Amino acid sequence: MDSYPEVRLRRLRRTAAIRDMFGMDAPSPAKFIWPVFVVPGEGRREAIASMPGQFRLSADELVKELEPVVAQGVKSVLLFGQHEGDGKDECGTPAADPHGAVQRAIPVLRRAYPDLVILTDVCLCAYTAHGHCGPHDPDGDIDNDAACEMLARVAVSHAQAGADGVAPSAMMDGQIAAIRRALDDEGFKKTLLISYSTKFASQMYGPFRDAENSAPSQGDRQGYQASYRDPRTALRESDFDVAEGADALMVKPALFYLDLIQEVSRRSLLPVMAYNVSGEYSMIHAAAEKGYCDLYATARESLYSIFRAGATQVISYWAPFYKEIFRP
Ligand code: PBG
Ligand code: ZN
Repeated sequence: MDSYPEVRLRRLRRTAAIRDMFGMDAPSPAKFIWPVFVVPGEGRREAIASMPGQFRLSADELVKELEPVVAQGVKSVLLFGQHEGDGKDECGTPAADPHGAVQRAIPVLRRAYPDLVILTDVCLCAYTAHGHCGPHDPDGDIDNDAACEMLARVAVSHAQAGADGVAPSAMMDGQIAAIRRALDDEGFKKTLLISYSTKFASQMYGPFRDAENSAPSQGDRQGYQASYRDPRTALRESDFDVAEGADALMVKPALFYLDLIQEVSRRSLLPVMAYNVSGEYSMIHAAAEKGYCDLYATARESLYSIFRAGATQVISYWAPFYKEIFRP
């Protein structure tokens, strides 16, 4: 009785209305966080060649760019900063500059959009002369504890500027504990601490590094970012960050790591954000440009897969295109 011809599964998807009834709803735009690149100065809107539809924006231009995005119901941004000219050094000191592009953009955005959830990426690679996410120790490794100290200073500078939350992406051991302690010491008890807990060393960051000018000049990040060949240790990363006081976890990239999104969301009751990274965005653009697939339909399918796996929010460059993707 439990098989064909008595059972016909096609009944459950016969018409569009029936499919709507039994299918998942589209994720709400409130679940989307838009990652954006802020640059110093005014009136700057520079297209990023490797990421169609994305721009490097000065704060005033970001305010304009956000208007239609916020109008669609997207409520959050994740800010990435950049340092231009001299000043990049061994430790990434300009990352904590109170007059840096991110620190200056926060109050500008706050004034224009009082309810916007402003999150910031906390890392050093766009501010170190060598492009790594921390300074070197005498052996030439990336110095974990020195990086943590610096990351804590950067996080505090973002909180001082008025960020709702800080998101450290350097994958240093103890970075969550160090930042939580520093925020508490400085009186920032309300600042969300969102851990890039399970971030893999991935080829999918290529377009981003082009946008941010943050590729390491020598070596790679395999010494600190998680290995896709060792998912057990990757899961311990998220356990550690829960213990250290993270308010939310993250899996990054998303699409090649759907199994990890599912596993992390089963292990922990914290929110599990998925970072749908630059390569995942640009790959679909490239394929659509070649005529291999439809741009927005493919984006939609990929975003559903991320939520199906158990992500509770998604950080995605598709956020400004929510309407095209989900309400075509
Ligand atoms: C910086 C950082 C990276 C991304 C987010 N924060 C690059 C990297 O680790 O090399 C990647 C984001 C993307 O590809 O969209 N640590
Ligand atoms: Zn980094």
